[in-house]
Amino acid sequence: MYNEKVLELFKNPKNVGEIEGANAIGKVGNAACGDIMQIFLRINDKGIVEDASFQTFGCAAAIVSSSVACDIIKGKTIEEALKIENQEIIDILGGLPEHKIHCSVLAKEAIEDAIANYRKAQNSNK
Ligand code: FES
Repeated sequence: MYNEKVLELFKNPKNVGEIEGANAIGKVGNAACGDIMQIFLRINDKGIVEDASFQTFGCAAAIVSSSVACDIIKGKTIEEALKIENQEIIDILGGLPEHKIHCSVLAKEAIEDAIANYRKAQNSNK
């Protein structure tokens, strides 16, 4: 049911594990299946995402989507990172089965959670 590109990336996902010096961490769960996704970001003082990684207890679609999402947001400002569209992730993957689309949303949601947590921490340090 997955295309070749997805299967290849599932076998060799990028951006896996916790990055050193992560200062923004987001965690979301998928209510439909109970899977969990964590995103780690290192954001510099100019608000640019220097590095991004993920850990997930999820299916292949969740893993490949997170791998791609981390690639997309690296080097972007946090405002730009918040604007990533799920469709962009799916297009890069060459498509996902319809019933797996909900899994791919986890990465975007986890990034939003990480940035919200980062902003909260920034504000409480002021
Ligand atoms: Fe749970 Fe895909 S089935 S994230």
